[in-house]
Formats: sequence, C-alpha cells, structure tokens
Amino acid sequence: MRYFKIIILAFFVERASSLWFFENIANSLGFRQKPQIEEKDENGTCTSEDTLEEWGYELNNGPDHWGGICKCGKKQSPINIVTTLTQPGNVDPITFSNYDAQCNITVLNNGDTVTFVGFDDCPNQPYISNGGLGSRYDLHAFHFHWGHTDLDGSEHTLDGRKYSLELHLLHIKHGLTFEEAIHQPDGLAVIAIWFSLWFDSAPMSTLMPAIELVSTAENQTATISNFQVSQLLPQDRNQFYRYEGSLTTPTCNEVVIWTVMKQVQSITFSQMNIIRRIHLGGENNENRGLFSRMLGLIRQPALIRSINPDIGIPGANHRPVQPLNGRTVFFHG
Ligand SMILES: *[C@@H]1O[C@H](CO)[C@@H](O)[C@H](O)[C@H]1NC(C)=O
Ligand SMILES: *[C@@H]1O[C@H](CO)[C@@H](O)[C@H](O)[C@H]1NC(C)=O
Ligand SMILES: *[C@@H]1O[C@H](CO)[C@@H](O)[C@H](O)[C@H]1NC(C)=O
Repeated sequence: MRYFKIIILAFFVERASSLWFFENIANSLGFRQKPQIEEKDENGTCTSEDTLEEWGYELNNGPDHWGGICKCGKKQSPINIVTTLTQPGNVDPITFSNYDAQCNITVLNNGDTVTFVGFDDCPNQPYISNGGLGSRYDLHAFHFHWGHTDLDGSEHTLDGRKYSLELHLLHIKHGLTFEEAIHQPDGLAVIAIWFSLWFDSAPMSTLMPAIELVSTAENQTATISNFQVSQLLPQDRNQFYRYEGSLTTPTCNEVVIWTVMKQVQSITFSQMNIIRRIHLGGENNENRGLFSRMLGLIRQPALIRSINPDIGIPGANHRPVQPLNGRTVFFHG
C-alpha cells in the first residue's frame, strides 16, 4: 500500500513538475541519452549517414534524436508550404505511364509504416516523366504517414494545415538501383498525396483488406493481386507543388525531387481508424493502446504537447516540418 502511494505521489509530482522526476531517472538509467554522432566530415560537409540503428517515432528514438544528415542537412523534408510564398512554375504536366497496369504487389508492416512493394517486378512497371523531372522515374514502392487523431498525420503541411494521412509514391531514376539513387542529387522522385476525411471510400478500398491483414505485428506481409496504382491518384494531377528535399526518414538523404499534389484525396473515418490501429514497432509496442497513449501524454511536458500532440506517443509516424533554408517552392497548375 505504501508503494502504491509512492507511485501515485510520483505520478502527481511528475505531472506538476513537467517531467523532471522521470526524466532524471530515465537519464540516470541511460534511456534518454542522445547519440553522439559526427555529422560533418573534416571539411565541414554534411555527409554522414550515421543515425540511430533503432530509429523510430518515440521519445527516445524519434525525429529529435535522428543524427547524420537528418540533423545537419539544409534541404530536409517535409516542409510547410506557404502558398503566398510559392513561385509560379510552368513545366508540362507529369505523365503517368502504366499507372493503370495491373501489378501483383506485397504489403509489409515494417514497424515504421505499411509499405507496398513489388512494382519492380511488374511486367508493365508504372513510371512518371515530364513535369520538369528531367528523366524517367520508375515506381518502386509506396507507403503512408499518419497520426493519432484526424487533425494530425501528414508530413507536409499547407499554410500550417495538417492532413490526416499522407501517401508517398517513391520513384527511382530509371536505370539506377535504390542504393545508387540515394547517393545522387536527383536520384528519387516522390509524389506526395494528402488524404482528408470524406465520404469517398474508393481511393483506399482495395488496400484496406491487406492493411488489416498486416496490422497486428511487425514484419507481417500480405499480397494484393492486379492492383492498379492509378486509383490512389487525385483526379486533378496537373496542380502540384515542387521543391528539392530529402527522405523524411533516416538516413534523410537529400536526393528527392518532391511533388506534392494540390488536390486532396478522400479517406473515410472507418478506413482511417483501421490505419491507426496498425501495430507499429518500437519499445512500447507491447503496451500499445489506451494505456501507452496515456503514458505518452503524461511523459510529455504540456508545452511540447500543445505544439505537437503526436511527439513520442507510439503509433504515429510523421516527421515534423523542417526549415526551408532559402529553397524555392514552385506551384504548377
Ligand atoms: C576534404 O577536402 C580535401 C581537399 O579539398 C579533399 O582532398 C578531401 O577528400 C575532402 N574530404 C572529404 C571527406 O570529402
Ligand atoms: C523484422 O525483420 C527485421 C529484418 O529481417 C528484423 O531485424 C526484426 O527483428 C524483425 N522484427 C520482428 C518483430 O520480428
Ligand atoms: C498476378 O496474380 C494473379 C492471381 O494470383 C495471377 O493470375 C497472375 O498471373 C499474376 N500476374 C503476374 C504478372 O504475375
């Protein structure tokens, strides 16, 4: 009973004093140490790809702890797109080729997201060209980012607005392997599509059964036969934002031509809830659910919570927006 009281007391002390109690304990036990990583080479160039081996989205391995280029890079993603500061662009529309082809793909819960692969083996591999890309880029995979509530989840934001879900269609410059592409300034082209709660279930409907199959544990897979990736694209593909940035996960290589579609896609309330129930990896994954969410809330100082309610709580997987550092964002359309 006395221990119980101590625990209760500790709970309130912790809440009242915004963290210092458990923070100190955690630090003395070595849980919260920031990794010591040299981000720059001897010439001061930001090149190191070192980062946490077990990076994630939780308090002790989340975006604040990612090292290497994630930390010292100057062209990082995602960004907040400020519409009044975008420059008018005038490139041709993007050509989506083979986006209607039927591909047999595999869904994998890799612990950080659900990723859909297998396009490299599709007889008619989808690819994009034109649209100022300067080359052909082959669709390699796609995945999603989301949050704990409908008000949070997207990585890119528009005038500060967050969307519930963000799709990344990852394309590799034609002729390169992924390993080669992440070491070339224009090695990757990613198309980002925002999803917002609405009544149309069609864009996500084919994916949902497979997502449910892989949602219970890390490293589970499922297959989808005859999948047409075109169903994920918004109707208006001619209006988009364009800028140069990075991967939004370690090792954060600055090799991505970003295209963020202006037209927002629809996902239903129940589809979004299924996605939020996906069991992602991480140290707290045994306690997922209400308890760990409460724990996540309690562990954060109120100020940080009010800025980003998702930081450090298991189950969300989006990186906060990064400084623009003088980059230009173009709007085509
Ligand atoms: C640093 O600069 C020197 C001289 O330009 C060059 O020889 C060396 O390769 C550079 N080091 C790295 C790691 O790029
Ligand atoms: C998932 O697979 C990776 C790579 O094979 C492995 O390192 C990891 O331990 C696996 N995770 C689980 C929970 O089995
Ligand atoms: C895709 O899967 C279907 C059904 O499993 C099969 O009939 C078809 O031949 C496969 N297509 C390819 C290109 O492998």
